[in-house]
Amino acid sequence: MNGKGHDNAGAGAPARGDYVLEARDLARRFKVGSSFLATPQVVRAVDGVSLSVRRGETLAIVGESGCGKSTLARLLLRLLRPSSGQVLYDGTDISDLPEREMRRLRKDLQFIFQDPFSSLNPRMTVGAIVEEPMRVHGIGTRASRPQQVADLLRRVGLRAEYANRYPHEFSGGQRQRIGIARALACGPRVLIGDEPVSALDVSIQAQVINLLEELKAEFDLTLVLIAHDLAVIRHMSDRVAVMYLGEIVEQGETDTLYDAPLHPYTQALMRAIPIPSPRSRKVDSGLTGDVPSPLAPPPGCRFHTRCPLASGICKVERPPLATVAHDRMVACHHWEEARAGIPSAAETPAHSHAAERRFALYREHSLAGTAAASDRTP
Ligand SMILES: Nc1ncnc2c1ncn2[C@@H]1O[C@H](COP(=O)(O)OP(=O)(O)OP(=O)(O)O)[C@@H](O)[C@H]1O
Ligand code: SF4
Ligand SMILES: [Mg+2]
Repeated sequence: MNGKGHDNAGAGAPARGDYVLEARDLARRFKVGSSFLATPQVVRAVDGVSLSVRRGETLAIVGESGCGKSTLARLLLRLLRPSSGQVLYDGTDISDLPEREMRRLRKDLQFIFQDPFSSLNPRMTVGAIVEEPMRVHGIGTRASRPQQVADLLRRVGLRAEYANRYPHEFSGGQRQRIGIARALACGPRVLIGDEPVSALDVSIQAQVINLLEELKAEFDLTLVLIAHDLAVIRHMSDRVAVMYLGEIVEQGETDTLYDAPLHPYTQALMRAIPIPSPRSRKVDSGLTGDVPSPLAPPPGCRFHTRCPLASGICKVERPPLATVAHDRMVACHHWEEARAGIPSAAETPAHSHAAERRFALYREHSLAGTAAASDRTP
């Protein structure tokens, strides 16, 4: 299934073997502020997340800054060990796997970083950067790898001779292409992109998004996409998981979730006005009040301090993430009331013009293709 391909849409519940990655009641806490005098406090960055990633899909994870998206991504790739809970890759629990065994699996699970300026080693040539994972995982030979690197560079829209240059000679979009070539170098099955385009200008974003979609289809990849930009998510993903303060509060098929968000927090996100700067990492949710501190999350429903529908039960009882329809999960005591309040399309105030315009732009680029896409030749 390609992003937005929805091969499985309406095909019934997926079988167990359809899952490539699973999180089960996953939690990660960080101790902070520990010093000689101060008692350490605990940040609950990810707190009881259960999530399944289906083979071949694009799953997006969205939420405000600090809600635990990057921590969840690092847990899924076992770049971080969980405090509790499990991560299953192809049905095998990898949360406690010894590093030696984990190394074998790392080639299957690759990461694309947000910042193409800091994620590439400035002292290595582009060729060495892309070749490194092949060397580490014993792919190819010293003689064959330069050709493999050249092929990969060409595949991501760069010239093969760029292999001899250094990262500082390239623009942001080109560096992100180098990062993608590196992530592809050892033939991964799952790519996790942590805000892979949010540091790029909007027109370059569309090219990189399009490239990722082409590569996903060509290399039969599964994609987990972390993004704060609702237009990017709508364009690319098959399903969306919405996070708030370390928890997943809603999950469902992308178009359904966009058309009828059931959790009051998702509804607020959908009303959000995207901030014009592509470098801004904030989601303007239109909500009053700040996100509470993950050092002391509110009891009951964590959203109750900002929720327009909060009632007495919300302050004391944590709502479970419950299945409320086919492929749809919500953690809210009053989701039916929230659903009743969804405005019709005609009543929606132009549903965020800016996001819709960018969504349209991504679609245009997608249809036009990016065969010659390379945003700046150094
Ligand atoms: N190594 C760490 N030590 C202490 N606290 C951490 C650490 N990593 C993350 N946190 C805290 O955990 C919480 C979740 O952080 P995380 O980076 O996962 O959020 P995020 O959703 O990716 O945010 P952003 O959108 O800003 O990237 C934050 O409060 C953050 O300060
Ligand atoms: S459980 Fe209560 S506070 Fe939480 S989102 Fe639902 S209505 Fe709002
Ligand atoms: Mg992050």
